[in-house]
Amino acid sequence: MSRCGAARDLEGQSSRAATVGCSTLRRVPVSEEIAAATATALDRIARASSMESLKAVEPDLFGKRSELGILRSRLGSLDPEERKDAGRALNDARSAVEDALRARQRELAGDERRVRLAGERLDLSEFAPDDHARGHYHLLTQAHRRLEEVFVGMGFTIAEGPEVETEWFNFRALNFADDHPAREMQDTLYVDLGEPGRTVLRTHTSPVQIRTMLEREPPIYVVCPGRVYRRDTADATHMPVFHQIEGLVIDRGITFGDLAGTLDEFVRAFYGSERRTRLRPSYFPFTEPSAEFDMSDPTTRTGWLELGGCGMVHPNVLRAGGIDPECWSGFAFGFGTDRMAKMFHGVDDLRELWTNDVRFLRQF
Ligand code: DAH
Repeated sequence: MSRCGAARDLEGQSSRAATVGCSTLRRVPVSEEIAAATATALDRIARASSMESLKAVEPDLFGKRSELGILRSRLGSLDPEERKDAGRALNDARSAVEDALRARQRELAGDERRVRLAGERLDLSEFAPDDHARGHYHLLTQAHRRLEEVFVGMGFTIAEGPEVETEWFNFRALNFADDHPAREMQDTLYVDLGEPGRTVLRTHTSPVQIRTMLEREPPIYVVCPGRVYRRDTADATHMPVFHQIEGLVIDRGITFGDLAGTLDEFVRAFYGSERRTRLRPSYFPFTEPSAEFDMSDPTTRTGWLELGGCGMVHPNVLRAGGIDPECWSGFAFGFGTDRMAKMFHGVDDLRELWTNDVRFLRQF
């Protein structure tokens, strides 16, 4: 039924005849007009393929200018009996169209949600190894575990200390003068806690020496691996957070020879028996004498690679730890482990150790 036919039919011509296709004259019952308009409306709803296009057809369904709207506006021209039936039929039609609209809205909203979720979906299995192998420790944790194993094998135990440390443990007790440059703001990260300048993020693992001495009676043979902090800008070879391992030995009659022998033993156990070590004079406030220790490394220009610092524990440090320097002596050493892991695995950029990209980590 053409719209033109429906309109004319209700225009109130006395004959109640419509011109359909502008040629045939026949009376079109209102109920048929309504049924046809309803069918058109339902069809348009069904054909809307998105929430947006459904919204766009809404005025054509119920508005004054919609087919059903036009039919309603012309109710007045019908005779009372027919008007009653047509009114009811129009109400039913409206409900049917409204129901269909709501159902289609739900359907389309569901579709759109499904499409959106499919687009946002993160396939975590993408990161799972194909063979569903279990994960493994981070390469730094692996390095620390291996270090601990070697030292424990040599008779050491593991000690720990806090990363947020007092200025006393981090500097004062370790014989740093009040004006020592390492205390300066550019190196040390101060924590806004308690008296200003009294709380720091430990700049090295050496404060654990003092904590251990205060907690344990000598003889002491400990290593302490841990995280340390310094004001530094991250680049390929520096990080403001890094790791060290500290060693402390206190016993009767400990000599510089014991220090040299222990480091040599450690380096061979950790890196291989072909390695050699050497000590070069240096300075640290907490050791006297102090040295840097190197290990032989054919890949470097000089044939030596610097590992860390060491020395005989300064009498002031023993005293700060409550140990009588007349009875006991000892040595200490400390070195950075990130660089070791970096070297060990041929990692170019220290930052790779922190970004934790599984594609990188998976290799180790
Ligand atoms: N704490 C020193 C640093 O961070 C490293 C160090 C040097 C530790 C000599 C020691 C030592 O125990 O004896 O640079």
